[in-house]
Amino acid sequence: MIAIIPQPLSLEEKEGFYAVSKTTGVAADAAMQAHIALFCGITGCFAETGETAVHLSYQKDFAKEEYVLTISPQGIQVQAGSEAGVLYAAETLRQILHGREEKDGRWLLPCCEIHDKPRYAYRSIHLDEARHFFGEKTVKRLLDLLALYKINVFHWHLTDDQGWRIEIKKYPRLTEVGAYRKDSTVGGWNWLAFEGKPHGGFYTQEQIRDIVAYAAARNIMIVPEIDMPAHFAAAFAAYPYLACREIDCEVQWHFGGKTPALAGMRDWNRSACIGKESTFTFVFDVLEEVFDLFPAPYFHIGGDEAPKGEWTKCPHCQKRMADNHLDSVEELQGYFNNRVNEFAKAHGKRLIVWNEALAAQGLDTSIVGQYWTVEWDDNVNQYLEKGGDLIVCKHQACYFDMCYGQYPLWNTYCFEPTKRLVPARFADQILGVEGLLWTEWVSTVEKMDMQYFPRLPALSELAWSMPENKDFADFLNRMHENEKLLDDLGVNYAEDKIALPRGYQHRQKLTNRWYFREQDWELRKNRELKQQKNK
Ligand code: ACM
Ligand code: ZN
Repeated sequence: MIAIIPQPLSLEEKEGFYAVSKTTGVAADAAMQAHIALFCGITGCFAETGETAVHLSYQKDFAKEEYVLTISPQGIQVQAGSEAGVLYAAETLRQILHGREEKDGRWLLPCCEIHDKPRYAYRSIHLDEARHFFGEKTVKRLLDLLALYKINVFHWHLTDDQGWRIEIKKYPRLTEVGAYRKDSTVGGWNWLAFEGKPHGGFYTQEQIRDIVAYAAARNIMIVPEIDMPAHFAAAFAAYPYLACREIDCEVQWHFGGKTPALAGMRDWNRSACIGKESTFTFVFDVLEEVFDLFPAPYFHIGGDEAPKGEWTKCPHCQKRMADNHLDSVEELQGYFNNRVNEFAKAHGKRLIVWNEALAAQGLDTSIVGQYWTVEWDDNVNQYLEKGGDLIVCKHQACYFDMCYGQYPLWNTYCFEPTKRLVPARFADQILGVEGLLWTEWVSTVEKMDMQYFPRLPALSELAWSMPENKDFADFLNRMHENEKLLDDLGVNYAEDKIALPRGYQHRQKLTNRWYFREQDWELRKNRELKQQKNK
């Protein structure tokens, strides 16, 4: 069986085998010479010199990520038009190679012909490092895993109420103050318990440049997110003047809406003041540094869950509305986004906003909407009607932080953006899809892995493969083959019993456990299942 994830555009299995070893040499056309080392590195097989049996040939008509991989009794041929094509051919070959039985230092590869290219140009995975900071080593490990599944965007959520994780040289207090919090909530959304120790960390600009280059070498563009105007408490803690009322504010040490209410906290959920000009000076200064660090043509400004109550009372915000003839607070947020968008455009960037921000009627349609909410949002379809573009990450399919009891693996695999969510006539306005990991309840790589895997491979198939080539039972078979590679890479994927929970009542129980106190129940069960398997 040739098991590849995501499923290629076409795969023809043929008679016969071809034997390779670590000394099998790779040769290339002149235009492909520079990619030989990458090919050898990714496949973990082959030598840059030696008896040639693999040939990389240049195809100028191929799309950037397109490749053809042919294994015949005479050798291996890779055709590609760019480094990305070679990389993806190598990732495919790595999956074919892995787990093949070794005989006298040689592996028998089944003959086949694979022609492959993606469905969507924007294939994204998100990580929230504001709620928990993981650091450079973990992010690079994740980038390697994204490349394995042909994911080409890493959406990096770098700031939120609970932490500011990116050095900004002009505003040092953002990381001196904003990168640390005194405690963290544990136990789930509806539970009031605390870890009892501080948490913090941030990336220096030098580290960010290094990670951006590491990603680029894997055909991954990093889209940074600085969430504004809400989810901004870490910035308020550093610079209180950014809010409507200048009051003392801590970097938040509780998660979600219910815990602070249970704890009787006030003034924890606020938005930046859009009336004061000093807010725009701050935002543009910060973005100047951020844009310089990230070459991607996109920038994510967030814009979700913005409370608007303070804006209705703030004299600065009220004046801004009157001066600009804005008749609602939604339009005030639209004004903010349009101004930031002008600034971003002047720097060659396209803005992305979460779908709540699409409520403003006057939004520039060059802005990309990102559809996440659980509920149906009619503003999304209206925005598409006006010609706007969309990234789809519907909560029920793409929120990998939720427990499998609530959102089993089939929610991710069987999701199809143009069925029931977005009318098919807007298909060309869907740039792509994204899987997200918010980390309120994820503080270790062990848990991160279990939430991502096997959802991330399932999402990669939604992002890459044509719908007519998808089949859930077939995916599960291929995933089981793929698990051998993940085992060797030390990835703690969810076992079937966790990822595919059966029975309504059982799932209700799991979901309740996740919301109340036992947020790590699935993690513990998965650990037990792995111990039994490895006995
Ligand atoms: C979001 O989950 N608030 C985008
Ligand atoms: Zn204000």
